[in-house]
Amino acid sequence: MKKNLSLLTLFLVFFAIACTNKPVQTTDGTSSKSKDLFVLFEEDPNQKAFFSDRKGVIGQNGMVASAHPEASKVGVEIMKMGGNAIDAAVATHFALAVVFPFAGNLGGGGFAVIRDKNGKAYTLDFREKAPLKANRDMYLDAKGDVIQGLSLLGHLASGVPGAVDGMVEIHKKFGKLSWEKVVQPAIDLAEKGVILTDREALGLNNNKQTFKKVNGENTPYFMNPENRDWVKGDVLIQKDLGKTLRIIQQKGRSGFYEGEVADLLVNEMKKGGGIISHEDLKKYHSAWREPIVADYKNYKIITMPPSSSGGVALVQLLRSVEQYPLRKWGFNSDSTVQVMIEAERRVYADRAKWMGDMDFVKVPMKELMSREYLKKRWSDFNFAKATDSKSIDGGTIPGYESNETTHYSVVDKEGNAVSITTTLNGGYGSKVVVSGGGFLMNNEMDDFSIKAGVPNMFGLLGNKANEIQPEKRMLSSMTPTIVEKDGKFLMAVGTPGGSTIITSVYQTILNVIEHGMTMQQAVNALKFHHQWLPDRTVYEANAFSEKTLNALKSRGYIIDAQKGTLGRMDCIMLRPDGTLEGASDPRADNTSVGY
Ligand code: DON
Repeated sequence: MKKNLSLLTLFLVFFAIACTNKPVQTTDGTSSKSKDLFVLFEEDPNQKAFFSDRKGVIGQNGMVASAHPEASKVGVEIMKMGGNAIDAAVATHFALAVVFPFAGNLGGGGFAVIRDKNGKAYTLDFREKAPLKANRDMYLDAKGDVIQGLSLLGHLASGVPGAVDGMVEIHKKFGKLSWEKVVQPAIDLAEKGVILTDREALGLNNNKQTFKKVNGENTPYFMNPENRDWVKGDVLIQKDLGKTLRIIQQKGRSGFYEGEVADLLVNEMKKGGGIISHEDLKKYHSAWREPIVADYKNYKIITMPPSSSGGVALVQLLRSVEQYPLRKWGFNSDSTVQVMIEAERRVYADRAKWMGDMDFVKVPMKELMSREYLKKRWSDFNFAKATDSKSIDGGTIPGYESNETTHYSVVDKEGNAVSITTTLNGGYGSKVVVSGGGFLMNNEMDDFSIKAGVPNMFGLLGNKANEIQPEKRMLSSMTPTIVEKDGKFLMAVGTPGGSTIITSVYQTILNVIEHGMTMQQAVNALKFHHQWLPDRTVYEANAFSEKTLNALKSRGYIIDAQKGTLGRMDCIMLRPDGTLEGASDPRADNTSVGY
């Protein structure tokens, strides 16, 4: 008996060791014996991996990950009322326009990637367009030099907004609840007020003088009624915004692009030297585009085609490093970082050369993403030495001539998934608040290449493919993405961050797929960025160990620690047990809410 007991103990000890030594996680619920085992990430004591140890939010029925707790709550309430992920996304969008004026918007635009419960993918481009009166040189002086700030601040910086049309479109196609119901929570937040977080109070205070400069000394918008700075816990009431939302609630698309709100917008433009007209508003329509659906190993990447460069660039980046054993090399080890940087260098050079609005320029999407082309681009890579960005240009493709944002993800219990990135561009956009309408206008025109070879606010270069033309969409880096495995939804991913969006999405996906991180760990993970020019890599504090830094520097990489942080991810992953993991970025107020 005693012998039997000790044998049993021995067996149990062995079993426990076997289990702990081989912690496995399949992210799609397949058997742990599947050959696609995910070995759970283990932190290397010499290589700090995470910004924080925040844990993911687990939900059984639905999840919203967004930049603000109130907006995520709104989305979940809509699902509890019987709405699907698309209803919840629309409600979250309008709520963000109220509670997160930094980037949530009515006066901006964005991109939606949707995978419905049957696995069919859709992408909607609701990016702003250049107004009809725009022209290539509109931000240049008589000598042909860029007039500093003109594409960034004030009335002339805005493109024709696409957000309201975008929300109407996705709701019309997929919504289950009435339009009235999905807009209502935002109206309540605007009229009853929202409690400011520390970060939001600080944002409004820091921009007070600029709001006054652009909207007049006596502007009431975003000013504390007690004539003092905002502090955390203050309530921000936005009556005019509430009124605008009510009109949109009653009239849908025409409530924004025609009638009273359109009049307010056009009057505001006239007052401040802007050029958006009634005709621009009437003509604006978002565009359903064929999604990019590309394989990376045995995953399917569903992402956005131009006018965002994000999707093409993401697939190029992933496929460029597909050949390397990143998992074996380790998270942020010198070899892993080196090949990722070299991929980024080449891909951002392609972005500058080839990408623009597909309604105006021919973008060689298939060629750029093909493994054959990427192999050629890689031919001058050498492990011993950093490639010099000066020696890199956009690739050659036969037959072609050269020529502050926010993300939210929603998944419902039926398996519909939505990944949306939307923006005013800079924080609070152009800082112009439409008088009487209470909403901010974007400064998206700066995303055009306003002069060939002159970098935009994110240091990005462009040329002919992205020059200004009336009704053209400015090139974006927004990368809302959905990843599928074995025919099932795996994760919805996205972030703001200008030019760093693409590389943050890239790293987050690799962190899960290659390094075995949970969704939240992948979001928490420290990040880095390279964009071809300027030829330097920036990284979040502690992202690289001394060993990695020394190895990279000795091979000629210019590397700078970043003062700030990279990314504000809001992602959702389906876990092996069928529950959803909401992963919002600990770097700001981002919050996931599930049920
Ligand atoms: O479309 C783009 O790429 C930029 N307008 C995004 C701006 C952005 O992410 C700002 N937030 N950090």
